Amino acid sequence: MSRLRTVIVTIAALGAMAGVVGLAVVFLGLFNTSAQKGHWPITSWVLHTTFRNAVELRAPPPSEVPHDLEDAALIKLGARHYDSACRMCHASPGEVATATIAAMVPRPPQVERAVAPWRPEELHWIVEQGVKMSGMPAWPDPHRGDEVWSVVAFLSAVQRGLTDEGYDRLTAAESQGYCAGCHGPQGTSRAPRLDILGPEYIALALAAYRSGERPSGIMSHALSQVDPASDAELAQRLATLPGPGRAPLPPPPAAAEALARGGTSRIPACLACHGPENSNPLIPRLVGQSPEYLQQQLILWRAGQRGGGERAVLMHSAAQGLTDPQIEALAAYFASRDAFPEERP
Ligand code: HEC
Ligand code: HEC
Ligand code: HEC
Repeated sequence: MSRLRTVIVTIAALGAMAGVVGLAVVFLGLFNTSAQKGHWPITSWVLHTTFRNAVELRAPPPSEVPHDLEDAALIKLGARHYDSACRMCHASPGEVATATIAAMVPRPPQVERAVAPWRPEELHWIVEQGVKMSGMPAWPDPHRGDEVWSVVAFLSAVQRGLTDEGYDRLTAAESQGYCAGCHGPQGTSRAPRLDILGPEYIALALAAYRSGERPSGIMSHALSQVDPASDAELAQRLATLPGPGRAPLPPPPAAAEALARGGTSRIPACLACHGPENSNPLIPRLVGQSPEYLQQQLILWRAGQRGGGERAVLMHSAAQGLTDPQIEALAAYFASRDAFPEERP
């Protein structure tokens, strides 16, 4: 019994001493925070092993990886976001980071090395969550893990050997400006086309992104690159910017048109608001919009994660009763036409 006591007293005394040493390190500045020499090998090993195991434990299951990760438009969207948000630290394929970035501790690995050890679901976790105490940022919006897959699609293309010429083609500067890089004629069909929208609706959308009411890591990053004072002028200009061309889509199932026109007991008729006689500038046009974009937005509406202007609440209730196949059919219905017959001259 007295031996057990001695052990407990010794452990308590050691604990108290460790506490005192810890406080001394914090308050007397004993730990050298200089980044000049880097970590001791043991510290690097502990940090990196902790990081690797944390990723393995928390990454989503492989079944959550979307099946269209090799889609060219998705890769392009990820590449263009990467070019603006990540390249400064991880460089592009074949490129070397600046001397200042190379002096970071830990040093951000060059993109080809950064992606090498990881599976797609692990890359998703790292890019969504970031890495504490390393300089690796989290995704700007915690509720938009769906957007992160575009960057994973790009990183997977790097794993498959994307060349520096391939990278330059994906991220080439667009003569009509930064926003047109995704939304313009050479952009990606994963970004919505803007020429079917009015300047009032676009201005409202930009304000909703800026306030965070409409969550999007991609758009909040893009808007942080431009002065808010130019939003009104941008909205005017982008309302006439032609989107990326694409091959005509097959006609959607006839049931989709019936649903859009007539609705059901649980689902309101979409065309009551989004139809040809809509003259409300704050209700966006859907005909000819990108099908992937429409589908993604409807899923967000249904989940209560798509903010917008003050009329957005109308859409929240409109999307509540939709099933996955209905969402797919309605997206195909609106995307596959470029106008309503009633609107043709
Ligand atoms: C400010 C610099 C910085 C920015 C910007 C940045 N990262 Fe990182 N990133 C880091 C650092 C530093 C690490 C190393 C973390 C470590 O080793 O503990 C890292 C780690 C990673 C890793 C894991 C590599 C590994 O095995 O250690 C991936 C993948 C990654 N970043 C992708 C991205 C993507 C994609 C973006 C843009 C959305 C991005 N990073 C933006 C600094 C940055
Ligand atoms: C890296 C690609 C990319 C860039 C660059 C980009 N966007 Fe976007 N934009 C997107 C994506 C993706 C969405 C859909 C986001 C969402 O889920 O809400 C979007 C959505 C929008 C919308 C909402 C459209 C709608 O139908 O509701 C507007 C307006 C917009 N962007 C304007 C801009 C402006 C202005 C700029 C330049 C400052 C810009 N975008 C730059 C990819 C981009
Ligand atoms: C009561 C009117 C109303 C009805 C009915 C309605 N919507 Fe909407 N819808 C809106 C409004 C208003 C917005 C714009 C919200 C915002 O962002 O400010 C919108 C936005 C959308 C968007 C986003 C478009 C973009 O460019 O981002 C989609 C997709 C959409 N609606 C699809 C549908 C579908 C499909 C139906 C039928 C199931 C439907 N809506 C029924 C009013 C309506």
